Amino acid sequence: MPVTIAILKETADYEKRVAATPDTVKKLVAMGTDVVVEAGAGDASSISDSLFQDAGARIASSKSDALGKADIVLKAQVSKEDIDGAKSGAMIVGLYAPYQNKDLIQRAADKNVIAFYMELEQRITRAHAMDVLSSQSNLAGYKAVLDAAEHYNRAFPMMMTAAGTIAPARVFVMGAGVAGLQAIATAKRLGAVVCATDVRPASKEQVESLGGTFIAVQDEEFKAAETAGGYAKEMSADYKAKQAELVEQTIAKQDIVITTALIPGRTAPRLITEKMVKSMKAGSVIVDLAVESGGNCECSIAGDVVMKHGVTIVGHKNVASRLATDASSLYAKNILNLLGLVIDKEKKAINIDWNDDIIKGIALTKEGNIIHPNFSQKPAQAAE
Ligand code: NAI
Repeated sequence: MPVTIAILKETADYEKRVAATPDTVKKLVAMGTDVVVEAGAGDASSISDSLFQDAGARIASSKSDALGKADIVLKAQVSKEDIDGAKSGAMIVGLYAPYQNKDLIQRAADKNVIAFYMELEQRITRAHAMDVLSSQSNLAGYKAVLDAAEHYNRAFPMMMTAAGTIAPARVFVMGAGVAGLQAIATAKRLGAVVCATDVRPASKEQVESLGGTFIAVQDEEFKAAETAGGYAKEMSADYKAKQAELVEQTIAKQDIVITTALIPGRTAPRLITEKMVKSMKAGSVIVDLAVESGGNCECSIAGDVVMKHGVTIVGHKNVASRLATDASSLYAKNILNLLGLVIDKEKKAINIDWNDDIIKGIALTKEGNIIHPNFSQKPAQAAE
């Protein structure tokens, strides 16, 4: 029996992506798998059922028809209905937001499905091609600048006209990881004067190489702020106070602020207070990309655009999904690359190497247990 792969229609609010494209379906079929797509799964990404069909997929008229017999289920955002409808032993690959959705992981264990989460935290070279955090953050960083431009009642580039000169927009990017660096590059391309901040020393050179000015409290703590995995640590109260002072001085001179600062598994650091918002000029714009993790700005509201002290604060959810076609295309490729590791093309069967570092990094559940060390309920591991 060939491996059956189901691609389901997304049901979460603000989710327009789909976990496969005609291109990846063709490749999955070439690997000897049967691909079933739930009708309408690609609609929000401008991919019709007939394009999936042309690529070799069967279209299932209902979710249960697609899901019931599948060995592998592909999703953007995994829901409890996906887990409940999957057969025992099936693998569900998708985004679980595992730090926020511990119940979902437990449910996957209880239902004996193999949950593979694509929010791969380990940034090892072999995992690059499966790195959803990067592929989606990159798009989000770009879109954040376009969202800012939409709400900014002025132009980005300097314009010298017979009627007078327009000054360039001043853009401040807070958090210079994948999304932040793309935001810097996009704002530069639009002609803005850009500065950026981060707590990781490695980001200084990256910001400068994109033409941005690097601003940060560069003390001893800053020099040690990057974890072995390349992520930021939560900073001390003392550092946060010094950083707040610097941000306060910088922010009042900016027209646009894009915030992207995150710490894996924790609430996003609060970098902009209401007092700082008040210090900005009327007509300024803040885009908070961290809004779904608690927000970098005190005044942002998840899923909303609000006006506070004359400043527009944009808090869109799932920003990558606002570029659904590209986001789906990159996400689907990330998944395809992962499936290359778990499907044996010769035997046309699933063959998981549970000792592979990539598999260890993404496997949440197996045989009724939560096996990922970050989410396991075992007291000894939790304490660690
Ligand atoms: P992220 O999404 O976890 O955080 C975004 C940015 O916010 C990070 O640059 C982080 O340092 C910064 N940040 C956290 N707390 C902050 C604070 N209090 N103030 C200011 N900034 C703060 O990070 P992302 O974008 O996922 O990147 C994490 C690391 O992974 C980076 O070093 C990036 O270059 C690296 N990376 C490595 C890849 C690889 O395969 N080698 C691929 C992609 C990213």
